[in-house]
Amino acid sequence: MKISVTKISLESITTDILALPFSSHDLKKEACRTFETFGLDPYALKDFKAEPGEIVVMYGGGKSFAARIALLGLGEGKSLDDWRKAAVVFASKAVEMKIEKAAADFSGIEALAAATGQSVEALTGAFVEGCFTGSYRFDCLKSWKLDKKKSRKKSKELTELLLRVDSGVFDEAEKGAASGKIVGTCQKSARDIVNLPGNYLQAVDIAKAAEDSGKKYGYAVTVFHKKEIESLGMGGLIAVNKGSFHPPTFTVLEYMPKGKAETSVAIIGKGVTFDSGGISIKPSENMGEMKSDMSGAASVIGAVEAAARLELPLHVIGLIPATDNMPSGTALKPGDVITTYSGITVEVGNTDAEGRLILADALTYAKEKYNPDVIIDIATLTGACIVALGYSVAGLFSNNDRLSDEIFAAGQQSGEKVWRMPLWDIYDEQIKSDIADVNNTGGRGAGSVTAAKFLEKFIDGHKNWAHIDIAGPSFSAKGSPTRVSGGTGFGVSLFVELFKKWA
Ligand code: BES
Ligand code: MN
Ligand code: ZN
Repeated sequence: MKISVTKISLESITTDILALPFSSHDLKKEACRTFETFGLDPYALKDFKAEPGEIVVMYGGGKSFAARIALLGLGEGKSLDDWRKAAVVFASKAVEMKIEKAAADFSGIEALAAATGQSVEALTGAFVEGCFTGSYRFDCLKSWKLDKKKSRKKSKELTELLLRVDSGVFDEAEKGAASGKIVGTCQKSARDIVNLPGNYLQAVDIAKAAEDSGKKYGYAVTVFHKKEIESLGMGGLIAVNKGSFHPPTFTVLEYMPKGKAETSVAIIGKGVTFDSGGISIKPSENMGEMKSDMSGAASVIGAVEAAARLELPLHVIGLIPATDNMPSGTALKPGDVITTYSGITVEVGNTDAEGRLILADALTYAKEKYNPDVIIDIATLTGACIVALGYSVAGLFSNNDRLSDEIFAAGQQSGEKVWRMPLWDIYDEQIKSDIADVNNTGGRGAGSVTAAKFLEKFIDGHKNWAHIDIAGPSFSAKGSPTRVSGGTGFGVSLFVELFKKWA
């Protein structure tokens, strides 16, 4: 999608659809004047209330060059989330209508920014990101798309977005648009990876996606294959991979800024390409959704790529342990005891608690090899986290109050919300093992907390670690007007927000 910012007059914009965003307050104040300028029928105001995410498409704006005018609701116009929602709805509508060129009126953006307590740059960035979210469709596996000739005929994508601003905020808006475009495209690549089913995406393909991105955007990617993983002694990753036909990979992405980096961050993403549960096999209903069990890995690739493309002045290391989790005659069994990379032994209470086994190795590796200022892992780790927080909010666990506050704030800003859960030692009781150092399951209660307590054992005393459980918000089985179905790319925007803060 080509994004541009312009200062030309609103009436002279030629486009397939022009969005006019209104808060409910502005609607009362200014609608009549705008309607007159465009020659629009004021009767539309009987239907349009500027509710958050509301959209009314109108025709016959005889005084403008826009083929259609879309009234976009911002609610009270005070929340960044409503602003983002409007963008998602607008872009989604445009794609539905097979529209290729869209524009939006940002003439009132300064006032809107002030009302939301944001900068023009941030608001523009959020809108552009929202347009990427809303216009995204995963159709690469449709036969007409696979057939290049037919695809050319049938494909209609939103290819152009024009933002009209007053000249005073032009530079700021351009900056925001550029950053929004990078975050939006990185989110899109993450969503593509999440949506690819298990037969299209194995561990080697995750490694390949990272390598391709690294080559394109100039950061280093190293892939450890099965032999190296074995000789390194990554017993967690090897154990989960035992039942699989496909070899595991461990991918290291490393972005080093050109200048001096004050801060180093390691982000670790769970890369389970398909989670059948292994011998502790899952029920078959909705098991297909477990193709998304590598969402953490996808957002790590997206976030490192975004950092590189935005040239942020911090050192970012991405670590991705990847495998599928399958049952077979060679598979890991409940009751087995394994030795992880750290040397810590684990009794496998349940082979379906596989994510924590592969993350354990990566956490220890991050601390030992890089000892970064911050370690954050992101994973579709527990169904229990969905029970606790639902499908829009991620669970946050951290041994550091300040880091936790920063991640919470980044969540509010990026719209990728997180809520902190406890890590008290009382939960250790549940993951004790009689025969090994620790058990990988903790019984029925507090499943997402005991999973986090398990991970904590592998950071080797690091004082600035956080774990983000994205089992809920990483994937939506059913879409909604503000949320397209499938992979969401949750984490990319959150990480970028954090990186910007630390840069
Ligand atoms: N990948 C799942 C968690 C999950 C569930 C993610 C639903 C997204 C949607 C994870 O590997 C898993 O199976 N966790 C188990 C842990 C249990 C066996 C201790 C779970 O949540 O049931
Ligand atoms: Mn599992
Ligand atoms: Zn899993």
